[in-house]
Amino acid sequence: EESKKIVLQEDPALPAAKKAKLSKLTDLRGSRVRVNGWVHRLRDQKGIIFIVLRDGTGYLQCILSGQVSQTYDALTLTLESSVELTGTLQPVPEGKTAPGGHELVVDFWKVLGAAPGAEDAFTNRLNEKSDASIQADLRHLVLRGETASAILKLRAALLSAFRQSYDANNLIEVTPPCLVQTQVEGGATLFALNYYGQPAFLTQSSQLYLETCLPSLGDVFCIQESFRAENSHTRRHLSEYTHLEAELAFINFDDLMTHIESIICETIDRLLENPTSAALIKQLNPNFTKPARPFTRLSYVDAIKWLNEHGIQHEAEDAEGNVIKDEAGNPKMVDHAVGDDIAEAAERRMTDILGTPVFLHGFPAELKAFYMKKIPNQGGDGPVFTESCDLLMPNVGEIVGGSMRIADMEELLAAYKREGIDPSPYYWFTDQRKYGTCEHGGYGLGVERLLAWLANRYTVRECSLYPRWPGRATP
Ligand code: 4AD
Repeated sequence: EESKKIVLQEDPALPAAKKAKLSKLTDLRGSRVRVNGWVHRLRDQKGIIFIVLRDGTGYLQCILSGQVSQTYDALTLTLESSVELTGTLQPVPEGKTAPGGHELVVDFWKVLGAAPGAEDAFTNRLNEKSDASIQADLRHLVLRGETASAILKLRAALLSAFRQSYDANNLIEVTPPCLVQTQVEGGATLFALNYYGQPAFLTQSSQLYLETCLPSLGDVFCIQESFRAENSHTRRHLSEYTHLEAELAFINFDDLMTHIESIICETIDRLLENPTSAALIKQLNPNFTKPARPFTRLSYVDAIKWLNEHGIQHEAEDAEGNVIKDEAGNPKMVDHAVGDDIAEAAERRMTDILGTPVFLHGFPAELKAFYMKKIPNQGGDGPVFTESCDLLMPNVGEIVGGSMRIADMEELLAAYKREGIDPSPYYWFTDQRKYGTCEHGGYGLGVERLLAWLANRYTVRECSLYPRWPGRATP
């Protein structure tokens, strides 16, 4: 009853408060400040209310005592309510810790948007015990958590650092379209849509467009969403992912792998040199050490040998691609042979044993996309190999796929034919070989996969703002 009568008034005799974001408070210590945010943590200790405030830029411990903690709003305050707090910023007392090393002694405050309590309280809708499908439905609330928001902050820092590295290496950023009428990585994973009565797709890769930019802009890169209609419920597959792609002219295959390694290492160096992003990496992945250079390079043929030497087998398949089972119903396991795709499970075991980044290179043409350049002067009648590479990281597996591209027009026309692709919608891509062709190559990097490696996350789903996977496009 008493509390309902207490109406707080801001004391006009106090010095004017400076409005500030929580990450910008250090210089304001000792003065009166006004901050806005959400109640991240809340504790009442013998009439003194401790709030940890969150505003996206940081966290701040705030103390409400005396009259300030006895209003109706104070007694009914809930987690995730939005508030405005005004008071004096003080360094934390000797021997105590708080985010930023200071705390706010509140003299005036307001609730801006009260969050519900009781059964609709935030922690009733979402908590550590919520199962995965609830967490997916409540992704918008999960994002408010310390881990999810730290991952997104690191993601922003990563994209920014990549842009700086590309700038330092003279690659220009372009923004290719998402709506396309050509495939890059095979028809099986295309999302088709009706485009004013014409067939069109959501892009799988901007590679073909980047190739057309070389004679116009020189070396280029883009950061664009790619879409894959793969029915893969794995830790590393999304239906929509952020694809960082680059294309470089007048290079050879060795230059390409060296460039990929440099860009990744320079970008990691930038993140570690910046105290804010270095702290995020430390928080999410305390044991992170930057990879040693040069990265190991292992040819596809040597990788097949390596897998067999280490007893890493794969499931045998019949001619139709069905897994062959033994009498007990278990899949029949067999050694790898040259020509086999190295599947996710085998790849993961290999990277886990090696424990360092590895470039796998020289894949058989049959396993790869139509545009890849063949290794020159191959003899014999075994499989034809390509100047292609995948970069594998421990815990995640493939994070980059790249290759040199077919530069010769006749060879490209033959490649369309071999893959059963109608060349007519590709006229603009073919024209690159007609008007001043050049040796060139490029790659695509899955941003969520790199982030899963860097932040030591179990799945790429944690590394996307609103991840999409088969059956999931909400929120
Ligand atoms: O190996 P991919 O399919 O290569 C290309 O699309 C090339 N056209 C890129 C280029 O050369 N410009 O994909 C490249 C990378 C993969 O290494 C992986 O990191 C990521 O994109 N990726 C996926 N990430 C999440 N979910 C998926 N479904 C992904 N598919 C590919």
